[in-house]
Amino acid sequence: MANAPVKIIIPCCTLMSKSNNVLLVTNVSKRCLSSWWSQVEMGPPDAILGVTEAYKRDTNPKKINLGVGAYRDDNGKPYVLPSVLKAEQKIKEKNMDHEYAPISGSADFCNLSIKLALGDDSTHVKEGLNATVQGISGTGSLRIGGAFLAKFFPYNKELYLPTPSWGNHNPIFLHSGLKVNKYRYYDPNTCGFDFKGALEDINKIPEQSIILLHACAHNPTGVDPRPEQWQELSQVIKKRKLFPFFDMAYQGFASGDVVKDAFAVRLFLKEGHQIALAQSFAKNMGLYGERAGVFSLITSSKDEAARTLSQIKILIRPMYSNPPIHGARVVAEILGDPALRQQWLGEVKGMADRIISVRTSLKDNLKKEGSTKDWSHITDQIGMFCYTGLQPAQVERLTKDFSIYLTKDGRISMAGVTSKNVEYLAHSIHQVTK
Ligand SMILES: Cc1ncc(COP(=O)(O)O)c(C=O)c1O
Repeated sequence: MANAPVKIIIPCCTLMSKSNNVLLVTNVSKRCLSSWWSQVEMGPPDAILGVTEAYKRDTNPKKINLGVGAYRDDNGKPYVLPSVLKAEQKIKEKNMDHEYAPISGSADFCNLSIKLALGDDSTHVKEGLNATVQGISGTGSLRIGGAFLAKFFPYNKELYLPTPSWGNHNPIFLHSGLKVNKYRYYDPNTCGFDFKGALEDINKIPEQSIILLHACAHNPTGVDPRPEQWQELSQVIKKRKLFPFFDMAYQGFASGDVVKDAFAVRLFLKEGHQIALAQSFAKNMGLYGERAGVFSLITSSKDEAARTLSQIKILIRPMYSNPPIHGARVVAEILGDPALRQQWLGEVKGMADRIISVRTSLKDNLKKEGSTKDWSHITDQIGMFCYTGLQPAQVERLTKDFSIYLTKDGRISMAGVTSKNVEYLAHSIHQVTK
């Protein structure tokens, strides 16, 4: 027995090394690791995309998904804009290659996009004061802006968000390396804009910080300042020496008019602010998955625009090298062709008008159901979302008893409401609120 080999069974979580012919065995963890990643815990589902997952599992034929912010036609189906189809046909006929875009993306796309935001006659664009790059839709454009501000903003690297704000704002700017704070925005008592609260809070933001503003169709509340309120906000923001970062994800989608929806951005420039701007073509062109967006900095000179642009490109290169080309080509075809652009403007208006009319219909149907509550905020609010004021327990009942899916904060995507389901929706809301 003395010469028989000894078998040693070593658990997979041990590290072995040989020292002076002695086998050293070190236990690296109390738990047996069968993989590099066995210590990774399950994360919570995305608050918005998780709603769609739950909706898909529901077998009730009356189910309604009011979670995700993507436009649906009156049959509840995704809508491919005819102008987009025409643009894609034109691109196909051009037999284009699939070479890399420059780091800053398509120059045509960038120029046409910034002109859409600031106006064809914008002096800022004419004088070359904009440093504009293509981003990965609105999210990626905000992220580029966050990265630039985290590195180059010369003062307080703190960004102030409205309460509430789009759920992705906080993580985007935290990941970028900025500190994130809040200012009051929504008044739950009126389901409207808390103008007084916003002014009070903004007046207390430390000077030379960054403030994020939703240019139009505030997500999730659908509550936008009125023009005269924007005027006052501009004054206070100037007085506090704050740097305004506009998120414009819904140009044209709010009112149906791209000029009206760009009011705040253009006003701030007229008032002498230097701004940052993130644009998205996900909603207003229905190009959700194409990830076509733009980030711009408005600078004080052509030279400053060139310098900041060079640094933005240096930030983009290690993140994703260069942006995707198809969506940008579609946008450039549409915006660069007067006839196609005109057609698109009609189609955006069509989407906005359907949302506006379904708001009225929901309010009317609630009244028909016998609801005596004040639902005027449904039609006062604007854009894709309605912040209904429903409490978490009411939201839970809507989902459990009526198969109506929405986020816990009571936000509904008006795009999911149609002439076919609006009565059932009003009936269900009345049942949980009466
Ligand atoms: C306020 C706001 N900003 C930005 C985005 C970014 O959208 P995307 O990355 O799809 O362009 C959204 C989308 O829901 C939004 O609501």
